[in-house]
Amino acid sequence: MKGLILSGGKGSRLYPLTYTRAKQLVPVANKPVLFRVIETLRDAGITEIGIVIGHTGPEIREAVGQGAQFGVQITYIEQNAPLGLAHAVKVAREFLDDERFVMFLGDNVIEGGIGKLIADFERERYNAQVVLTPVEEPQHYGVAELSDGPERRIVRLIEKPRNPPSNLALVGIYMFDANIHKAVEAIKPSWRGELEITDAIQWLVENKYEVHPYVHRGWWIDTGKPIDMLAANAKVLEELQPKIEGYVDRDSVVDERVTVQEDAEIINSVVRGPAIIGRNTRLINAYVGPFTSIDHHCVIENSEIEHSIVLEHSSIVDIPHRIADSLIGRNVEITRSDFRPKALKMTLGDNSKVGVL
Ligand code: TTP
Repeated sequence: MKGLILSGGKGSRLYPLTYTRAKQLVPVANKPVLFRVIETLRDAGITEIGIVIGHTGPEIREAVGQGAQFGVQITYIEQNAPLGLAHAVKVAREFLDDERFVMFLGDNVIEGGIGKLIADFERERYNAQVVLTPVEEPQHYGVAELSDGPERRIVRLIEKPRNPPSNLALVGIYMFDANIHKAVEAIKPSWRGELEITDAIQWLVENKYEVHPYVHRGWWIDTGKPIDMLAANAKVLEELQPKIEGYVDRDSVVDERVTVQEDAEIINSVVRGPAIIGRNTRLINAYVGPFTSIDHHCVIENSEIEHSIVLEHSSIVDIPHRIADSLIGRNVEITRSDFRPKALKMTLGDNSKVGVL
């Protein structure tokens, strides 16, 4: 079985971070989401992986390479414009050949891996299997209507329904056999000009192919928006095996769910987990609270931060208010200035500079 990871797209909901970086390379617990996706496929036994890339292709190629660092073999597939998930299947036709494959969105994070669903799909020989999960507001998702009875099948898929027939939303993981290629050729672009994968799956259903629902019970997060990025970061940090590889001085308090990566230094500071402090990062008289990832080569000095993500080479110095719920890009400098905000809630792009009282 082959793997197809979608890593094109615009990433507009994560602007300004994604002006300068592919959204799939934004790290969660100091590791890009795309790397986590590749590892999830590899751990399910899939080593032949195609990655669909768009305008951020060069950056993705540079970060992932040929896949040796993950123990997989990567083929890059260029998609000239983000014309939809079914369009991505179309451009990957040659790579996929007639093999069965799993398609995974490059910005999704899922709990517990996909080994079981891959095994089910291999054993049962369905034409397609889509992963669903119960959600609280199904009207914001693609939703599946299932048949009754013990052998439940998908009878209909509806994008953002006003009256949802169930609370089961489509997660960004799909498994197909070669019949999907007929489907993507048959469908027409939707009102937003994209070839929708939900339309292709609906075509399979209407043409009597067997589309099986797999209900995932753990968490699943689509990191499309800043708030989702923070949620994914929190979930992954909770699962991380803590490890102290850097230096913690005697005046610091670092609790047990904290990872301190190589050559990080923690001086006279308090770190409450779950949290991760990246390589060569320095905390001096700082407080880092739960659900925070500070990437490599950062400085946090005389400042407090929690429930946030800070990307590499950024510094936060002498900030009198605690920073929370923030997503801070690369090379950002936050220092004191005469400007006094009451709250600190920020989504900052790479190379930003912010002055705070
Ligand atoms: P989306 O999050 O639906 O789209 P997007 O990346 O353009 O984001 P935004 O809405 O913020 O502008 O895409 C889901 C995943 O699929 C994501 O990893 C990008 C990828 N993708 C492609 O590779 N090709 C495409 O044509 C589309 C639409 C998405």
